[in-house]
Amino acid sequence: MPNPSILAPSLLAGDHGQLTASARIAEEAGAPWLHLDIMDGHFVPNFSFGPEVLAALRRAGAKQFFDTHLMLDEPHRYIEAFVKAGANLISIHIEPTYDHRGTLARIRELGSKNGIVLNPGTPASAIESLLGEVDLVLVMTVQPGFGGQAFRRDMLPKLQQIDQWRRERDLNFRLEVDGGIDLANAQECRTAGADTFVAGTSFFRATDRAAYASTISRMN
Ligand code: DX5
Ligand code: ZN
Repeated sequence: MPNPSILAPSLLAGDHGQLTASARIAEEAGAPWLHLDIMDGHFVPNFSFGPEVLAALRRAGAKQFFDTHLMLDEPHRYIEAFVKAGANLISIHIEPTYDHRGTLARIRELGSKNGIVLNPGTPASAIESLLGEVDLVLVMTVQPGFGGQAFRRDMLPKLQQIDQWRRERDLNFRLEVDGGIDLANAQECRTAGADTFVAGTSFFRATDRAAYASTISRMN
């Protein structure tokens, strides 16, 4: 049985002057997850926000599953801070050099789910040996760093490959896509094996966000 589809609106596309209000908009639309993009100005050429923002969202009553995407050169240094701040899942990139396996294990030890992320230029084979140790694989469908970029359709074969390994090995990690996602290409990604959909610009700009969330949740 494939995993049900989950929408994770990206707070990066919300109003940074009132992030708690933007998180509430996503929750009230019916999206079960909230995607939190953390950027360090090194691994990606941009900044976003840190653990204090997650903690503030929790204090303001946010109940969503916090899907925390660390775009950091040294993610292992910040895992604990994000767990304490309320992260439910922490995903880390495969590209920088650090102890990926150890960091994934540490995330679970601290009581969070873990995920591994691949940039568009990184082949699926780079994470193949970690598949048995993760709760989520995130396939970037844009080069990370900025919202509002165009979806990379050439990532579909990568999704198909990872989904095939998942079925062959009887694993049950979630397969997430992030970058330029809208309702049309989300269906293409779903057909290629994705079950978890990050949407920033298209979600926050949608005229009917509840309809957007329910369309994703019914996708199969
Ligand atoms: C890009 C981030 C994304 C971004 C997606 O670096 O990882 O999560 O917020 O935004 P859209 O949906 O606008 O491409
Ligand atoms: Zn992201």
